[in-house]
Amino acid sequence: MNQQRFPRKRTYLMCSPEYFAVEYAINPWMDVTTPVDRDLAVKQWDRLRETLVGLGHEVHLLSPEQGLPDMVYAANGGFMVDGSVYGARFKHEQRAAEAAAHHAFYEAQGWRFIAPSETNEGEGDFAYVPEAHGGLILAGHGFRTEIPAHAEAQEALGRPVVSLRLIDPRFYHLDVALAAIDDTNVVYFPGAFSAASQRVLTQLFPDAVIADDEDAMAFGLNLVSDGANVVLNSEATRLAGKLKAAGYTPVPVELAELKKGGGSVKCCIAELRH
Ligand code: ARG
Repeated sequence: MNQQRFPRKRTYLMCSPEYFAVEYAINPWMDVTTPVDRDLAVKQWDRLRETLVGLGHEVHLLSPEQGLPDMVYAANGGFMVDGSVYGARFKHEQRAAEAAAHHAFYEAQGWRFIAPSETNEGEGDFAYVPEAHGGLILAGHGFRTEIPAHAEAQEALGRPVVSLRLIDPRFYHLDVALAAIDDTNVVYFPGAFSAASQRVLTQLFPDAVIADDEDAMAFGLNLVSDGANVVLNSEATRLAGKLKAAGYTPVPVELAELKKGGGSVKCCIAELRH
């Protein structure tokens, strides 16, 4: 018998790919010579937004800005836990201005905002598992977010931060290698992490769902779960099968255009834990 899973209503932040393009290459998935169909990107993104709304979740929208082609990847603009937001500070100059747009959104909502001094890319490299060990932040480093930001996030948010080292440039953000699938558990691809970080994950999450190279390459880990429904890239059919076997309901969405920028479902969505 499958274990029964229960959804919890979420609040998300997204930003339309109205100005999406691949104009520079800051991760191995980006190729400036591959044409991007922006209308199709908007259609696929819309479908993702409708899917979340259809599942009963609330979606806030950030206004896209011309000249910021990666702004659709809204996960990178901040990290919110218990109503407090730790702001982003992008590694690459090309995305630096996105941080101010996110900051303005959070300020307008009246949420507590902690400005960062250290380089970090928000939910791209921070994940939160609210009922694991009393509330645990998992944090990636190695490509974008720097280790001092992990300590800064812990001081800003008052939750323990566990540092995990990413070693494979294809999986340059934590959120393409690991995801929270409910309030206590995660799914991850061990090969994206150093041997020591794999040991840490095994110790903290002995019951984790384990993904493989094929699942990760299909951007399957870049998912959003409400505890029961797991919205994930439609190419990740094998991972969908594993999640189903674990009692979750996979909800596949097609995001082929946005994959050209090096992102999928989760990259497009920041969770607002207010
Ligand atoms: N082109 C973007 C970058 O390289 C993609 C960001 C993907 N976002 C994510 N949360 N993994 O910065």
